[in-house]
Amino acid sequence: MSGIETRRVRLTVNGTAYEREVAPRMHLGDFLREELRLTGTHLGCEHGVCGACTVIVDGVPARSCLMLAVQADGAEIRTVEGLGREGALHPVQEAFWNRHGLQCGFCTPGMLTTLAAVLEENPEIDEPGIREAISGNICRCTGYESIVDAALDAAAAARRST
Ligand code: FES
Ligand code: FES
Repeated sequence: MSGIETRRVRLTVNGTAYEREVAPRMHLGDFLREELRLTGTHLGCEHGVCGACTVIVDGVPARSCLMLAVQADGAEIRTVEGLGREGALHPVQEAFWNRHGLQCGFCTPGMLTTLAAVLEENPEIDEPGIREAISGNICRCTGYESIVDAALDAAAAARRST
């Protein structure tokens, strides 16, 4: 990047520490996709409306298109790639699988990260709470019913495991 001012960023993504020189204006979504090749995070509107780019930053769902990579310096980030493990889906992923909670899948990474963070924070959440939690995540395919059903299943599974 000769001639372009850069800043050093150190952060942890899905349990792995990274250090990179980045342009100050690069947003976190582009950083994850282009620098770390974590393309599970989808970019739709890129202005905070669709929720497709949602990742978990220090335990809280955040739109990676509205956050600069340099603002994530020192943060712990989870992307959709970090929710499950090899051979073991995250309970929310499992519930989406069982309930057919996706069609084209474009919104799915943002739905999964949003719901994973919300359910880890509050497994007692009810249907209105789930609908409010995903109210910032747009899905053009499913009509949301299967997503809400999946989230309710995942919440029930989370309660059983506590
Ligand atoms: S791409 Fe970030 S909210 Fe749409
Ligand atoms: S499954 Fe296609 S946008 Fe949600």
